[in-house]
Amino acid sequence: MSSAALNSTAASFALHGKTILVTGASSGIGRQIAITCSQRGARIIATGRDKARLQQTFDQLQGQGHVQIIADLTNATDRDRLSAAADTLIHGLVHCAGQQRICPLRQLTEDIMTQMYTVNFLAPVMLTQKLLHANSIARQGSIIFMLSTAAHSGTRGVGPYSAMKSGLMGIIRCLALEQAKRKVRVNGISPSTVPTAMWGAEHDMIEAEKTRHPLGLGTPDDVANAAVYLLADASRWVTGTSLIMNGGAMT
Ligand SMILES: NC(=O)c1ccc[n+]([C@@H]2O[C@H](COP(=O)([O-])OP(=O)(O)OC[C@H]3O[C@@H](n4cnc5c(N)ncnc54)[C@H](OP(=O)(O)O)[C@@H]3O)[C@@H](O)[C@H]2O)c1
Repeated sequence: MSSAALNSTAASFALHGKTILVTGASSGIGRQIAITCSQRGARIIATGRDKARLQQTFDQLQGQGHVQIIADLTNATDRDRLSAAADTLIHGLVHCAGQQRICPLRQLTEDIMTQMYTVNFLAPVMLTQKLLHANSIARQGSIIFMLSTAAHSGTRGVGPYSAMKSGLMGIIRCLALEQAKRKVRVNGISPSTVPTAMWGAEHDMIEAEKTRHPLGLGTPDDVANAAVYLLADASRWVTGTSLIMNGGAMT
């Protein structure tokens, strides 16, 4: 391949000149997405609830001009504050903040259901709405919702979480059409098991998960690489879909 072609390929996957807002940047997948995007040249607006953990992410960002904002995204005032603090046009918005609760439907309470709805569905949808309303998302920008393979297939005990991630797929499909005139792409990433703090002390469950993944479990790096593709100009023709990443797990 000629050096011109190589340069053009590299440019398609670069994030130089882009500002990317990452929620859930204080831990796990969101943290790695923030770090990897900064290594690709992006300016990062990192947000999370825990000040010390968010600072740890911030310290690992490459380059200059990054911003960190503490916000509980289930709180409308915090979402307004985050949107207002996003001082420049955003070229990429990555919704990683989320929580999982294992809870079979027979044991479900309204409190758990409300928690799953508020953090996993309402918060990313209303933050997106706020940023669009403020004209903060740049033309040809990219919006990513972190879904899960649970959005596409059933697993015992994760009904409420699964339903919220499936619900986001509905938002993705509709918003992709609504934003197509501005060439803003809207997609999901649907990872299977990635050992992070979200799994807590469920070591037995993680061991069991290994047996059904022919390529092994995922890492935050794997998901961050997918995010880079969806944020970069390389994915300019991809919208309204979700990239399933499951290491070959079929069930
Ligand atoms: N790990 C997996 O196996 C897996 C698989 C599929 C999909 N996912 C999805 O990937 C995303 C990231 O998960 P993870 O594994 O990286 O989990 P994690 O390490 O537990 O990180 C969760 C992040 O969400 C933030 N968060 C939670 N509640 C919040 C709230 N009310 N307001 C603002 N931020 C909040 C946390 O912030 P603080 O720590 O600052 O509170 C943290 O940064 C989630 O949406 C999850 O559903 C994960």
